[in-house]
Amino acid sequence: MSKTGALDLASGLGGKISKDEVKSAVEQYEKYHVCYGGDEEARKSNYSDMVNKYYDLATSFYEYGWGESFHFAHRWKGESLRESIKRHEHFLALHLGLKPGMKVLDVGCGIGGPLREITRFSGASVTALNNNEYQISRGKELNKLHGLGQSCEFVKADFMKMPFPDSTFDAIYAIEATCHAPDVLEAYKEIYRVLKPGQYFAAYEWCLTDHFDPTNAIHQKIKAEIELGNGLPDIRSTRQCLQAVMDAGFEVIWEEDRAESSSVPWYLPMDKGQFSLSSFRLTAIGRLFTRYLVKTLEYVKLAPEGTEKVLSILETAGEGLLEGGKKGIFTAMYFFVVRKPL
Ligand SMILES: C[S@@+](CC[C@H](N)C(=O)[O-])C[C@H]1O[C@@H](n2cnc3c(N)ncnc32)[C@H](O)[C@@H]1O
Repeated sequence: MSKTGALDLASGLGGKISKDEVKSAVEQYEKYHVCYGGDEEARKSNYSDMVNKYYDLATSFYEYGWGESFHFAHRWKGESLRESIKRHEHFLALHLGLKPGMKVLDVGCGIGGPLREITRFSGASVTALNNNEYQISRGKELNKLHGLGQSCEFVKADFMKMPFPDSTFDAIYAIEATCHAPDVLEAYKEIYRVLKPGQYFAAYEWCLTDHFDPTNAIHQKIKAEIELGNGLPDIRSTRQCLQAVMDAGFEVIWEEDRAESSSVPWYLPMDKGQFSLSSFRLTAIGRLFTRYLVKTLEYVKLAPEGTEKVLSILETAGEGLLEGGKKGIFTAMYFFVVRKPL
């Protein structure tokens, strides 16, 4: 049900940014990043603007090329990418013990792919929090199309300062979202505050692994490409994230890098050399087709000026993620389940 046709792609480009401002928004976005002379402090102090610009510009492409859930997945041989994505969501729901009657928070919900799957899988009602207005509007449209009514709601807010009273939720999860936080400890503290005592928080985090060497220029280049291509202020290590959940007050129940047990590498869809009919748009031919499609749409003015630049940013993301994954210096699935003590 996601927007998957060429005209759908064209109509959503730029999100809530007005069409004649897309080009300057891309240029402003680029300036935040190391590859264009930007620095971490500016990305952190302007995180809301930087992340929102990124998702206004990128969401249509995500939907077109990836689907309704904007995350990677632990993979088994014989599974399609979509099957792995759903299983990745079920895995998290299962380890949180979600069931009917529970009030759950999805932190940084995208357009709600995970929330729809998790609510159908578990029967829990999910509140979906997101700071991007365009994604919220898409999420609402899709929930309606999927027939999900009262059990789920969208809230437009920043996860660094959530509009909920203390101890509101029976469980909380975040899928590849808190990587956008300017300060991960403050983000986890806010999650701790709104979770009921004795209950669980689970997350898939984007992290640097112990193999990342900060003195290695190639590693730093890969890190900068991932930050640019994905709207990140910085990338924390698995150790920093683990320390931050503990410092926020949580007890660690389980933590592991799920990439280590993934029999098919999570970053394989980024590899243009792979061919898959079910994920055709991610293949070399599929990407070439998208490049020409975008050029044409921009030329005939169905797509705003600057769209091709957005595609280039996303290609940079793909290259950084592929290299980071191959070298084992980056993971998109550092997983943990933690508990707020009674
Ligand atoms: C990579 S997407 C993942 C979306 C979703 N979890 C999924 O897997 O489909 C990251 C999401 O986090 C949201 N986000 C980033 N920073 C945020 C913030 N400060 N407050 C709320 N949402 C935020 C983005 O708007 C986006 O929806």
